[in-house]
Amino acid sequence: MNVDAYRFCVIGPGRLGSTVLAGLREADLTVAAVGVHADDDTDLAASLPHVRVRDAALEADAWWLAVPDDEIYGVAGRLAGALPATRRPGAPQPLAIHSSGLGSVHLLKPLHEQGVRTLCLHPLQTFAGEPRAELLRDVPCAVTALEERDLLLGEELAGRLGMRPFRLEDDQKTLYHLAAVVGCNLLVALESEAKRLMDEATAESRGLDHLSVLLETTMRNLLQGGEPASALTGPVARGDVGTVRAHLRLLDRESPRLAQTYRALSLEALALAAPRLDDGQVETLQALLRTGGAGDAGRSGPQPPSPPSPWAGGQP
Ligand SMILES: NC(=O)c1ccc[n+]([C@@H]2O[C@H](COP(=O)([O-])OP(=O)(O)OC[C@H]3O[C@@H](n4cnc5c(N)ncnc54)[C@H](OP(=O)(O)O)[C@@H]3O)[C@@H](O)[C@H]2O)c1
Repeated sequence: MNVDAYRFCVIGPGRLGSTVLAGLREADLTVAAVGVHADDDTDLAASLPHVRVRDAALEADAWWLAVPDDEIYGVAGRLAGALPATRRPGAPQPLAIHSSGLGSVHLLKPLHEQGVRTLCLHPLQTFAGEPRAELLRDVPCAVTALEERDLLLGEELAGRLGMRPFRLEDDQKTLYHLAAVVGCNLLVALESEAKRLMDEATAESRGLDHLSVLLETTMRNLLQGGEPASALTGPVARGDVGTVRAHLRLLDRESPRLAQTYRALSLEALALAAPRLDDGQVETLQALLRTGGAGDAGRSGPQPPSPPSPWAGGQP
């Protein structure tokens, strides 16, 4: 039985759900209804019946629960309670999908207990604007299921929507989601801090514009290089102790919270750069970055010659 046999209902036509709807239609799969919990006039799905969750059980035999993570288990329970006693002739074994990156496939347990096949399809993409099927194209998609035949079905469905499926064990989802958050959301938080510093330095508010070429080139080097170490540049990668000390003096004085982030991330950068540096540089930078203040830090290890102050007026 393949994905063409199913009549889909997307429950929750929000950011992901409306994109999934567009993707299913673009892939010529059958969409029978849109599941809503309130009156909804989503343009994209205007030609489809909008049904409440309990009726979605009757309209379709594949339900894509695109509701907030905290709602998945409850919606699965309500659907399970409304499943028809008999299926339409020739209908496939029903199927339920959710797309939480962190949530276990067991969130669909109420349906699994009623004989519904269950799987998670998590696209590693962000959906916020206009829902378009192209947003799914070439997107890596984690497929999680408890049975081999469900994994195969998930891979087929993700592939039909233009995504690049890969398998993910259910008990690795927290680690997997952490990777995505560190690599994407926390990067945004870091860039927001960089913008703030740049705006302050230039006394205008075009910080992201000034950073854009640097950021794009770094991302390109990172993604094309394969190994993060090859994309690392800057004072830690060069072993420029004086520059790191100058940064820390300014940060400790002006922005102690960012100083902590700078120290923690610079130690990660140092671990990447260490094979290219000599032992003395590594020890000095480690000592500098592990101490609370930059004033006395680093004096215990070998010192490279102090660079001329990069600050107009010898500020630090
Ligand atoms: N957005 C992304 O970038 C992204 C990426 C990957 C995975 N995901 C996953 O996709 C899922 C949905 O996220 P989202 O960002 O698309 O959320 P969203 O934009 O907030 O959309 C949620 C949808 O679910 C509906 N809904 C809420 N509670 C419901 C209930 N009890 N019964 C029926 N419908 C209900 C909402 O309707 P109302 O608006 O009327 O409340 C809305 O249409 C989550 O599991 C999320 O982890 C999202």
